[in-house]
Amino acid sequence: MKVQILENYKEMSRAAADIFADVINSKKDCVLGLATGDTPIGMYECLVEDYKAGKVDFASVKSVNLDEYYPITPDNDQSYRYFMNYHLFDKVNINKANTYVPDGQASDPVSSCEAYEKNIDALGGIDIQVLGIGRNGHIGFNEPDGELIFYTHVTDLTADTIEANSRFFESESDVPKQAVTMGIESIFKARKIVVLASGEGKAEAVKRMLCGKLTTNCPASLLRLHPDVTLICDKDAAILL
Ligand code: GLP
Repeated sequence: MKVQILENYKEMSRAAADIFADVINSKKDCVLGLATGDTPIGMYECLVEDYKAGKVDFASVKSVNLDEYYPITPDNDQSYRYFMNYHLFDKVNINKANTYVPDGQASDPVSSCEAYEKNIDALGGIDIQVLGIGRNGHIGFNEPDGELIFYTHVTDLTADTIEANSRFFESESDVPKQAVTMGIESIFKARKIVVLASGEGKAEAVKRMLCGKLTTNCPASLLRLHPDVTLICDKDAAILL
């Protein structure tokens, strides 16, 4: 894994956006793997700036998102579909029909997950995937466990993740208890992965990802097996390295 430690969140976001812009500029119909959470917001802001400055064109770009709460409706302002529209899709010239987020209200979630996985393959796979990292080392919603699931699936959220994400909801009891997430192999199929981490709250997870044991109890540690991963983090997230 390549590691870039930058001064602050702003520099981290700009560096990540530059990598994404390069991919889009070298392949106009590329497939972006996108993530939610606070961490990638700055990167999306930089990409919107680049779009407005005429430096990047999303007209033929396609995207697939890592995860979505389950159950949740797309118009709920805590859904990841809403997040993506708000932070990126409504602000650039991407064709929303080419943006895919797991269905948070599927009546048959198992078939919906299978269809999601097949669609990633039908699109030709993901050219570049951005990932945040959970405090407990999760990626997407692949939570620490004795075993992990390869492909897109429905998962139970851990108490730690529910607590961490409750900051976005009125109360902890409003946080959905489940999610649909791309699996480890869905993520590994991406040709290039950029992991972002900012702030001291992520320092322990960053240390475990880079220096700890390779274990499903820290799903991010498995990223060390992928041939093209770059961690871009700020000084605070790197404080324990
Ligand atoms: C969430 C998301 C992850 C995200 C992580 C960190 O639970 N499912 O994809 O990377 O938590 O979020 P944040 O960037 O807000 O710290």
